[in-house]
Amino acid sequence: MESIISLRNVSVRFGDTDVLKCLNLDVRQGESLVIVGSSGCGKTVLLKTILGLIPITEGEIYLFGEKINGAPKSKIMELRSRVGMVFQSSALFDSLTVWENVGFYYLNHSDIPDEKIRSLAIEILKDVGMDGFDGFLPEQLSGGMKKRVSIARALISKPEIIFYDEPTTGLDPIMAESITRLIMDMHKKFKTTDITVTHDIKLASLISDRIALIGNGTIEEIGTFQELREKSKSQIIRSFLVMEGTNEKR
Ligand SMILES: Nc1ncnc2c1ncn2[C@@H]1O[C@H](COP(=O)(O)OP(=O)(O)OP(=O)(O)O)[C@@H](O)[C@H]1O
Ligand SMILES: [Mg+2]
Repeated sequence: MESIISLRNVSVRFGDTDVLKCLNLDVRQGESLVIVGSSGCGKTVLLKTILGLIPITEGEIYLFGEKINGAPKSKIMELRSRVGMVFQSSALFDSLTVWENVGFYYLNHSDIPDEKIRSLAIEILKDVGMDGFDGFLPEQLSGGMKKRVSIARALISKPEIIFYDEPTTGLDPIMAESITRLIMDMHKKFKTTDITVTHDIKLASLISDRIALIGNGTIEEIGTFQELREKSKSQIIRSFLVMEGTNEKR
């Protein structure tokens, strides 16, 4: 299967600290890859690095088969526009309505008339179960609703890849489950390649084709839920083992 994202010996350094060290990763077209690892190990840094938002000190990154590090800014922007990002905090603009948040990119970077953008936003809001909320302000929404809006914002440009950074963190179990369902439904409907960073074992077990463990700045283990269940030496991965019977995907 073709790799839609490839990282070759990628290192990222902040000051004296190497957060990523010679990291290698291939993400397959159409898969749902889950990234796990202890807090502060570099999961968010990895996502931002793939998007060219954080400079690398060594290595090469290929997105859609094209090298993104060292590419001209216009090329980086073009490749990045094909990736949707759902940030760890929902990162909505408080002063903008729901539809303006969802349509933010088009409102600011295109000549598409506002009314057309609004109808695109309303359409995608329906997909994420937020029909009728287009005129609301973020402060009028619950955490789970904000998460849905941020997923709509990522989906509006019909991205081929979506990054979800801890999409269920801070939500109650029922809301977390409904966001999990939403991620699964959107993956199926839009046939996206998904990378999801999470500490939520249930989410990981339900959505993952493969799980990658980050530790010591690199991918320490990678494999299907079943493979890791059988072979993993990691305490983090082993904690998945107690969740018997939750992997409905297989
Ligand atoms: N812009 C930055 N400048 C300096 N250091 C940074 C920067 N961004 C991240 N770091 C450092 O890189 C390390 C990894 O951060 P990162 O946000 O990727 O962790 P994480 O794995 O996503 O953790 P969490 O599970 O808590 O979200 C941390 O030590 C953090 O302090
Ligand atoms: Mg993070």
